[in-house]
Amino acid sequence: MAGMTISKLNQMKAAGEKIASLTAYDATFAKLFAQCGIDFMLVGDSLGNVVQGQTSTLPVTVEQIAYHTEAVRRGAPEAFIIADMPFMSYATPEQACLEAAKLMRAGANMVKLEGGEWLLDTIRMLVERSVPVCAHLGLMPQSVNLLGGYKIQGRDQAMAANTVRQALAAQQAGAQLLVLECVPTELGELISSKLSIPVIGIGAGVKTDGQILVMHDMFGLNSDYLPKFVKNFLAETSDFAAAVELYIQQVKEGTFPGPEHSFE
Ligand code: KIV
Repeated sequence: MAGMTISKLNQMKAAGEKIASLTAYDATFAKLFAQCGIDFMLVGDSLGNVVQGQTSTLPVTVEQIAYHTEAVRRGAPEAFIIADMPFMSYATPEQACLEAAKLMRAGANMVKLEGGEWLLDTIRMLVERSVPVCAHLGLMPQSVNLLGGYKIQGRDQAMAANTVRQALAAQQAGAQLLVLECVPTELGELISSKLSIPVIGIGAGVKTDGQILVMHDMFGLNSDYLPKFVKNFLAETSDFAAAVELYIQQVKEGTFPGPEHSFE
């Protein structure tokens, strides 16, 4: 949606209007997504997987995210764009500020960081210096080596309670959006109800304030491995624009993700 702002995203949450978002990496798709009315776009470090052909997001650099953010900004001058801070680019608050500046200069409106308690000082420092922050909890792909794979998170009570604590702490530190990845529907709902900021789910069930998908997954372009939470919208439509419009429609009416795309 043109002219999207953080306060409009907050109003959408307050009004119960679902937020529909996608990743974008280039000008052509960014323009298409903007024309279809997507609420915001994320230049995700998933570009390591879907653009570069890497096996994880770890090799992605700030310069590469900045390059793709510039392209997305050229394609969608009015869009609300979030840029991912890649692996080890925010190991200290000072480093985070220097690297985030590159992404903001490239055209981002907000940066996204994966992590919990250890990130709170970094979130505070970025926000104090006028860099809006989106936190990312649940499955954090940059921690794949620590987690031992891409697994659903927060299934046991202690882990679920810890994720709730971390989400509240991130909000308290100044995060204005939260991406919640691969958690049971019940936990997605609980965190969305406890936070005043919008919670955007990916594999977090239908009860979050909005949804995000990697664009290639939404078009069914990754044939080797499709996570349970992914739906190929192109399979039911005739072209890219119709697929994006169907995705937005199903997110807004709350019919995507269905139980078959969600975890218990
Ligand atoms: O990098 C990415 O595309 C992401 C989404 C999966 C939320 O972080």
